[in-house]
Amino acid sequence: MKHLLKMLDLSTEEIIDILNLADQLKYELKHGIPHPHLKGKTLGMIFQKASTRTRVSFETGMYQLGGYPLFLSSNDLQIGRGEPVQDTARVLSRYLDGIMIRTFEQKEVEDLAEYGSIPIINGLTDFCHPCQVLADLMTIREFKGSFDGLKMCFIGDGNNMANSLIVGCLKVGMSVAIACPDDYQPPKEILDFAAAYGDKFVMTNSPAEAAKGADVLITDVWASMGQEGESEKRKKAFAGYQINDELMAAANSDAMVLHCLPAHREEEITAKVFEAHANEIFEEAENRLHAQKAVMVKLMA
Ligand code: CP
Ligand code: NVA
Repeated sequence: MKHLLKMLDLSTEEIIDILNLADQLKYELKHGIPHPHLKGKTLGMIFQKASTRTRVSFETGMYQLGGYPLFLSSNDLQIGRGEPVQDTARVLSRYLDGIMIRTFEQKEVEDLAEYGSIPIINGLTDFCHPCQVLADLMTIREFKGSFDGLKMCFIGDGNNMANSLIVGCLKVGMSVAIACPDDYQPPKEILDFAAAYGDKFVMTNSPAEAAKGADVLITDVWASMGQEGESEKRKKAFAGYQINDELMAAANSDAMVLHCLPAHREEEITAKVFEAHANEIFEEAENRLHAQKAVMVKLMA
């Protein structure tokens, strides 16, 4: 594993290895056991979109590993004024030991990896959010003990989160059901991948059908970063695609609920269900830290 660009690139074994290391790093942090695997290394963090969790967990995680995190806003970088990503990659590779980037196009992340010579970590693109899904898988295993026989149900937009969840959950052996409106389905690349899993993957317009017998229910915002101008149109399209009491009743009685955050209460999830599952959702947010530390150690140590 040279980069973390998308879940599609990872083998099941690589995913499980990352999760095992993440569990170990979480244990070490909780027990005050130092783990300076990245002493003397520097991570550049390029943000072309807003972030709370990704920025703070990468920055803190790098510090805990003995390394130095460098926050690079695209407002200040020449990349924001049109310097090609190919040149940025070749320059930054001479100063840094790794780059985390949050941007719009997946191609930009793939280009950084192609033209640079250091590990690249995708901190979210319009196509996928692998760091979040590694933390989600870590949280599912933590609460459920294993992935065996579990069903994950995603409700809402076939967006970056849906894409990475479909791939990640199928790769670790879970079955997956996604409920989304026809015009908001995941892209062909993801549906083609999922088709190879036969009846372990189901896509429907019916949230109730997708939630039936689910062990994990997940949703995300109806309008992602960059889509704010479509908010009103999306509110109409996604009406009914909500995790609420009625949907929870269709799932298994011990089903857990995850949300990558930020959440819009009474849109994709009711405040009541959110609060009833807040311990799972905030453990998921915490696990960003541990999962990403594991990724950085695997790539940069
Ligand atoms: N879930 C997530 O990636 O959060 P941020 O946008 O705050 O980084
Ligand atoms: N789908 C959301 C995820 C935010 C973490 C977005 O891209 O804005």
